Amino acid sequence: MFTINDNFCKLPESYLFSEVARRINAFKQTNPEADVIRMGIGDVTLPLCKAAIEAMHKAVDDEGNAETFHGYGPEQGYAFLRDAIAKYDYNKRNIDIDPSEIFVSDGAKSDTGNFGDILSVNNIVAVTDPVYPVYVDTNVMAGRAGELTDGAWNKIVYLPVTAANDFIPALPTDDIVPDIIYLCYPNNPTGTTLTRNQLKVWVDYALKHGSLILFDSAYETFIRQEDVPHSIYEIEGARRCAVEFRSFSKTAGFTGVRCGYTVVPKDLVTCDSEGKEVSLNSLWNRRQCTKFNGASYISQRGAAAVYTDEGRKQIKEAVDYYLTNARILREGLTAAGLEVFGGINAPYVWIKTPGNMTSWEFFDLLLKKCNVAGTPGSGFGPSGEGYFRLTAFNTLENTIEAVKRITTRL
Ligand code: MLT
Repeated sequence: MFTINDNFCKLPESYLFSEVARRINAFKQTNPEADVIRMGIGDVTLPLCKAAIEAMHKAVDDEGNAETFHGYGPEQGYAFLRDAIAKYDYNKRNIDIDPSEIFVSDGAKSDTGNFGDILSVNNIVAVTDPVYPVYVDTNVMAGRAGELTDGAWNKIVYLPVTAANDFIPALPTDDIVPDIIYLCYPNNPTGTTLTRNQLKVWVDYALKHGSLILFDSAYETFIRQEDVPHSIYEIEGARRCAVEFRSFSKTAGFTGVRCGYTVVPKDLVTCDSEGKEVSLNSLWNRRQCTKFNGASYISQRGAAAVYTDEGRKQIKEAVDYYLTNARILREGLTAAGLEVFGGINAPYVWIKTPGNMTSWEFFDLLLKKCNVAGTPGSGFGPSGEGYFRLTAFNTLENTIEAVKRITTRL
């Protein structure tokens, strides 16, 4: 009889956002008249920008014509997109990244989840806590997480980020040195950031101990403050210790279209079990060529249009719109007496649940009394208990309405 990867059976029955959706749908079934404002999963509401739409229309026409038709593309992504990424996201910020270090994909969720394929199952993994659940769940699947005891995986090193430490993770204690460290900044779920100096502490630690940082900067376009780094490669030495994941989902509304990319610098080398030097760039390339046939030509044309003059202007307007929502949430909920964090350089606000309520109790209360759905902090990890996340990705009107309901009905 065939057997399965038992690690999958260790996982909680459903993925966090599927569970949130299930509970909202159950509430809607018993309360069909309720006008629920969804601020749970961070899905965008504005349509794609005009520049991307026009480029994708043109790409569809290309596919209908023998002279311009594109079948399988390069697994790493088309040069027209890799060049634009290198130029606008890195070189123009004085960051030395070459197009050959960029791997275009169908999004940062897949890449952060898949990257573990090329890493040993024996690596010790550290995550900030609370954390985007994909990092932990995919390490459970791979067999790196151990067992779940009291809501925490016993082989994972949790680095708490709460109001008590101003959401700045402390370095691991001396007795345990993680091999792989996941950092996400601007942070999902807390919406908080690290300054350049605070991020440097992690790069220095990784270089000193030979750790690998998996840096998720899917929310980079939301950064507005000067001392917040846009890329980990702004930090000296990061090319030797960090992989960076980016996405067009939140930047340009590609949650449905799907396109993102991963940067694996050529300086990032380690040794195999026999001590032979191995380049992570080559290994990831090998993995992608085998398991992935590239993001679609149409979505890559759409993504490339985001870097044109019009595209850049249009996506800035969209991101500003969401940041206005974040400000309205932050200011409105603070005025309503809640303790609110994040939402300045990120589309998420992180709320301390009032009256020592658990995250799920607050979820139920908000859904029932205000018909506002968010995401319980405990779903993101043990230190998320007692917190709650709302996204700024809904419409301006719904954001204003949600604040009004919370202010008047809670
Ligand atoms: C979130 O709500 O945390 C994100 O939308 C999930 C994702 O990007 O996959």
